[in-house]
Amino acid sequence: MTTPQPLIAGNWKMNGVSASLAEAKAVAAGLGSTSARVALCPSATLIAQMAWALKDTAVAVGGQDCRAEPSGAFTGDVAAEQIKDAGASLVILGHSERRAGHGETDALVASKVLAALRAGLEPIVCVGETLEQRKAGEALAVVTGQVRGSLPAELAGKAYSVAYEPVWAIGTGLTPTTPEIEEVHRAIRATLVEMFGEAGRAMPILYGGSVKPSNAAEILHADEVGGALVGGAALKAEDFLGIIRAV
Ligand code: PGA
Repeated sequence: MTTPQPLIAGNWKMNGVSASLAEAKAVAAGLGSTSARVALCPSATLIAQMAWALKDTAVAVGGQDCRAEPSGAFTGDVAAEQIKDAGASLVILGHSERRAGHGETDALVASKVLAALRAGLEPIVCVGETLEQRKAGEALAVVTGQVRGSLPAELAGKAYSVAYEPVWAIGTGLTPTTPEIEEVHRAIRATLVEMFGEAGRAMPILYGGSVKPSNAAEILHADEVGGALVGGAALKAEDFLGIIRAV
Protein backbone atom coordinates (compact mmCIF):
# COMPACT_ATOMS: atom_id res chain seq x y z
CA MET A 1 0.00 0.00 0.00
CA THR A 2 1.48 3.36 -0.98
CA THR A 3 1.64 6.25 1.46
CA PRO A 4 -1.43 8.49 1.20
CA GLN A 5 -0.85 11.83 -0.58
CA PRO A 6 -0.43 14.51 2.10
CA LEU A 7 -3.19 17.08 2.52
CA ILE A 8 -2.57 20.54 3.93
CA ALA A 9 -5.91 22.20 4.66
CA GLY A 10 -6.38 25.71 6.02
CA ASN A 11 -9.36 26.38 8.27
CA TRP A 12 -10.14 30.09 8.22
CA LYS A 13 -12.83 29.65 10.90
CA MET A 14 -15.00 32.80 11.30
CA ASN A 15 -12.42 35.05 9.68
CA GLY A 16 -12.20 36.67 6.30
CA VAL A 17 -14.15 38.94 3.97
CA SER A 18 -13.84 39.49 0.23
CA ALA A 19 -10.60 41.42 0.67
CA SER A 20 -9.04 38.35 2.32
CA LEU A 21 -9.20 36.50 -0.99
CA ALA A 22 -5.91 38.20 -1.82
CA GLU A 23 -4.30 35.81 0.70
CA ALA A 24 -5.92 32.82 -0.99
CA LYS A 25 -4.68 33.96 -4.38
CA ALA A 26 -1.20 34.48 -2.93
CA VAL A 27 -1.23 30.87 -1.69
CA ALA A 28 -2.06 29.63 -5.19
CA ALA A 29 0.55 31.91 -6.77
CA GLY A 30 3.28 30.86 -4.34
CA LEU A 31 2.56 27.14 -4.32
CA GLY A 32 5.25 26.03 -6.73
CA SER A 33 5.68 22.28 -6.98
CA THR A 34 4.54 20.35 -3.94
CA SER A 35 3.69 16.73 -3.33
CA ALA A 36 0.79 17.83 -1.12
CA ARG A 37 -2.81 18.54 -1.94
CA VAL A 38 -3.70 21.99 -0.66
CA ALA A 39 -7.10 23.33 0.38
CA LEU A 40 -8.53 26.43 2.03
CA CYS A 41 -11.78 26.28 3.99
CA PRO A 42 -13.37 29.72 4.43
CA SER A 43 -16.74 30.69 5.91
CA ALA A 44 -19.75 29.70 3.80
CA THR A 45 -20.11 33.34 2.72
CA LEU A 46 -16.77 33.17 0.92
CA ILE A 47 -16.85 29.69 -0.64
CA ALA A 48 -18.22 30.76 -4.03
CA GLN A 49 -15.96 33.78 -4.37
CA MET A 50 -12.91 31.80 -3.29
CA ALA A 51 -13.73 28.92 -5.64
CA TRP A 52 -13.97 31.46 -8.46
CA ALA A 53 -10.73 33.18 -7.43
CA LEU A 54 -8.89 29.83 -7.26
CA LYS A 55 -10.33 28.16 -10.35
CA ASP A 56 -7.57 26.80 -12.57
CA THR A 57 -5.19 26.70 -9.58
CA ALA A 58 -4.05 23.70 -7.53
CA VAL A 59 -5.75 25.00 -4.37
CA ALA A 60 -9.08 23.34 -3.56
CA VAL A 61 -11.84 24.97 -1.51
CA GLY A 62 -13.68 23.39 1.41
CA GLY A 63 -16.51 24.18 3.78
CA GLN A 64 -16.22 24.17 7.58
CA ASP A 65 -19.44 22.32 8.41
CA CYS A 66 -22.71 21.24 6.84
CA ARG A 67 -26.16 20.17 7.91
CA ALA A 68 -27.06 16.50 7.44
CA GLU A 69 -30.32 17.18 5.55
CA PRO A 70 -30.14 18.11 1.84
CA SER A 71 -32.65 21.00 2.12
CA GLY A 72 -35.51 22.24 4.27
CA ALA A 73 -36.64 24.58 7.02
CA PHE A 74 -33.31 24.91 8.86
CA THR A 75 -32.77 28.64 9.20
CA GLY A 76 -29.14 29.64 9.13
CA ASP A 77 -27.80 26.19 8.26
CA VAL A 78 -26.02 25.15 5.07
CA ALA A 79 -26.49 21.83 3.25
CA ALA A 80 -23.61 19.80 1.85
CA GLU A 81 -25.25 20.16 -1.57
CA GLN A 82 -25.14 23.96 -1.23
CA ILE A 83 -21.46 23.90 -0.28
CA LYS A 84 -20.73 21.69 -3.28
CA ASP A 85 -22.79 23.94 -5.55
CA ALA A 86 -20.81 26.97 -4.33
CA GLY A 87 -17.64 25.34 -5.63
CA ALA A 88 -16.21 23.41 -2.67
CA SER A 89 -14.82 19.89 -3.01
CA LEU A 90 -14.13 19.17 0.67
CA VAL A 91 -15.77 19.86 4.02
CA ILE A 92 -14.44 19.88 7.59
CA LEU A 93 -16.78 17.98 9.93
CA GLY A 94 -16.83 17.46 13.69
CA HIS A 95 -14.36 20.23 14.50
CA SER A 96 -14.00 20.52 18.27
CA GLU A 97 -15.36 24.08 18.13
CA ARG A 98 -18.57 22.57 16.76
CA ARG A 99 -18.55 19.55 19.06
CA ALA A 100 -18.12 21.82 22.10
CA GLY A 101 -19.95 24.96 20.97
CA HIS A 102 -22.87 23.31 19.16
CA GLY A 103 -23.21 20.05 21.06
CA GLU A 104 -22.25 17.91 18.07
CA THR A 105 -22.11 14.21 18.94
CA ASP A 106 -20.26 11.45 17.10
CA ALA A 107 -23.61 10.27 15.70
CA LEU A 108 -24.41 13.75 14.35
CA VAL A 109 -20.94 14.04 12.81
CA ALA A 110 -21.44 10.62 11.18
CA SER A 111 -24.73 11.81 9.67
CA LYS A 112 -22.94 14.88 8.29
CA VAL A 113 -20.27 12.62 6.78
CA LEU A 114 -23.06 10.75 4.95
CA ALA A 115 -24.39 14.12 3.74
CA ALA A 116 -20.95 15.05 2.44
CA LEU A 117 -20.69 11.74 0.56
CA ARG A 118 -24.20 12.21 -0.85
CA ALA A 119 -23.19 15.65 -2.17
CA GLY A 120 -19.83 14.52 -3.52
CA LEU A 121 -17.73 16.36 -0.93
CA GLU A 122 -14.61 14.82 0.62
CA PRO A 123 -14.95 14.94 4.40
CA ILE A 124 -12.16 15.91 6.79
CA VAL A 125 -13.38 14.38 10.07
CA CYS A 126 -11.93 15.97 13.21
CA VAL A 127 -11.29 14.18 16.49
CA GLY A 128 -9.32 15.13 19.58
CA GLU A 129 -9.22 14.97 23.36
CA THR A 130 -9.51 17.79 25.91
CA LEU A 131 -6.71 18.58 28.35
CA GLU A 132 -8.70 16.97 31.19
CA GLN A 133 -9.08 13.78 29.18
CA ARG A 134 -5.36 13.73 28.35
CA LYS A 135 -4.42 14.30 31.99
CA ALA A 136 -6.75 11.46 32.99
CA GLY A 137 -4.92 9.13 30.57
CA GLU A 138 -7.98 8.89 28.34
CA ALA A 139 -6.64 10.45 25.13
CA LEU A 140 -6.36 7.25 23.11
CA ALA A 141 -9.71 5.90 24.25
CA VAL A 142 -11.47 9.21 23.53
CA VAL A 143 -9.93 9.67 20.11
CA THR A 144 -10.40 6.10 18.88
CA GLY A 145 -13.98 6.21 20.23
CA GLN A 146 -14.62 9.38 18.20
CA VAL A 147 -13.16 7.71 15.10
CA ARG A 148 -15.45 4.68 15.54
CA GLY A 149 -18.50 6.85 16.19
CA SER A 150 -17.96 9.58 13.59
CA LEU A 151 -16.89 7.55 10.56
CA PRO A 152 -19.78 5.61 9.01
CA ALA A 153 -19.16 2.30 7.19
CA GLU A 154 -20.20 4.06 3.95
CA LEU A 155 -16.76 5.72 3.86
CA ALA A 156 -15.33 2.41 2.62
CA GLY A 157 -13.78 3.04 -0.77
CA LYS A 158 -14.35 6.81 -0.56
CA ALA A 159 -11.79 9.62 -0.23
CA TYR A 160 -11.68 11.20 3.22
CA SER A 161 -9.22 12.18 5.91
CA VAL A 162 -9.18 12.18 9.70
CA ALA A 163 -7.73 15.19 11.51
CA TYR A 164 -6.34 14.64 15.00
CA GLU A 165 -6.68 17.95 16.80
CA PRO A 166 -6.06 17.90 20.55
CA VAL A 167 -8.51 20.50 21.84
CA TRP A 168 -5.87 21.96 24.17
CA ALA A 169 -3.50 22.58 21.25
CA ILE A 170 -5.95 24.54 19.10
CA GLY A 171 -5.14 28.24 18.97
CA THR A 172 -3.02 27.99 22.12
CA GLY A 173 0.51 27.74 20.74
CA LEU A 174 0.84 24.45 22.65
CA THR A 175 1.54 21.25 20.74
CA PRO A 176 1.93 17.67 21.88
CA THR A 177 5.41 16.17 21.65
CA THR A 178 6.19 14.24 18.48
CA PRO A 179 5.97 10.87 20.30
CA GLU A 180 2.56 11.92 21.68
CA ILE A 181 1.35 12.80 18.17
CA GLU A 182 2.69 9.52 16.79
CA GLU A 183 1.05 7.50 19.54
CA VAL A 184 -2.38 8.93 18.72
CA HIS A 185 -1.92 8.77 14.94
CA ARG A 186 -0.88 5.11 15.14
CA ALA A 187 -3.94 4.38 17.27
CA ILE A 188 -6.17 6.13 14.72
CA ARG A 189 -4.56 4.14 11.91
CA ALA A 190 -5.08 0.87 13.78
CA THR A 191 -8.73 1.81 14.32
CA LEU A 192 -9.22 2.64 10.62
CA VAL A 193 -7.72 -0.73 9.67
CA GLU A 194 -10.02 -2.44 12.16
CA MET A 195 -13.00 -0.65 10.61
CA PHE A 196 -12.11 -0.72 6.91
CA GLY A 197 -9.49 -3.45 6.55
CA GLU A 198 -6.40 -2.67 4.46
CA ALA A 199 -8.28 0.24 2.84
CA GLY A 200 -7.95 1.91 6.25
CA ARG A 201 -4.33 2.60 5.36
CA ALA A 202 -5.16 4.57 2.22
CA MET A 203 -6.32 7.89 3.70
CA PRO A 204 -4.17 10.55 5.34
CA ILE A 205 -4.39 11.32 9.05
CA LEU A 206 -3.83 15.05 9.51
CA TYR A 207 -2.52 16.72 12.64
CA GLY A 208 -4.07 20.02 13.72
CA GLY A 209 -3.43 22.40 16.61
CA SER A 210 -0.95 25.30 16.54
CA VAL A 211 0.84 24.14 13.38
CA LYS A 212 3.12 26.92 12.14
CA PRO A 213 6.08 27.18 9.76
CA SER A 214 8.54 26.69 12.63
CA ASN A 215 7.12 23.37 13.86
CA ALA A 216 5.63 22.05 10.60
CA ALA A 217 8.62 20.01 9.40
CA GLU A 218 8.93 18.01 12.61
CA ILE A 219 5.19 17.39 12.86
CA LEU A 220 4.70 16.55 9.17
CA HIS A 221 7.53 14.04 9.18
CA ALA A 222 6.25 12.19 12.22
CA ASP A 223 5.05 8.62 11.73
CA GLU A 224 1.49 8.38 10.36
CA VAL A 225 1.13 12.16 10.01
CA GLY A 226 -0.25 12.66 6.52
CA GLY A 227 -0.73 16.41 6.51
CA ALA A 228 -2.10 19.22 8.62
CA LEU A 229 -5.28 21.09 9.39
CA VAL A 230 -4.13 24.63 10.02
CA GLY A 231 -6.11 27.41 11.70
CA GLY A 232 -4.42 30.69 12.58
CA ALA A 233 -1.39 30.18 10.35
CA ALA A 234 -3.62 29.61 7.31
CA LEU A 235 -4.84 33.22 7.38
CA LYS A 236 -1.55 34.57 6.05
CA ALA A 237 -0.32 33.20 2.73
CA GLU A 238 3.31 33.41 3.77
CA ASP A 239 2.76 31.31 6.90
CA PHE A 240 0.56 28.79 5.13
CA LEU A 241 3.09 28.43 2.32
CA GLY A 242 5.83 27.91 4.90
CA ILE A 243 3.86 24.94 6.24
CA ILE A 244 3.20 23.53 2.76
CA ARG A 245 6.91 23.76 1.95
CA ALA A 246 7.71 21.68 5.03
CA VAL A 247 5.87 18.62 3.60
P1 PGA B 1 -4.88 26.47 15.04
O1 PGA B 1 -6.31 25.77 14.69
O2 PGA B 1 -3.93 26.06 13.94
O3 PGA B 1 -5.16 27.93 15.05
O4 PGA B 1 -4.46 25.94 16.36
C1 PGA B 1 -6.38 24.49 14.14
C2 PGA B 1 -7.81 24.10 13.93
O5 PGA B 1 -8.66 24.40 14.77
O6 PGA B 1 -8.13 23.46 12.90
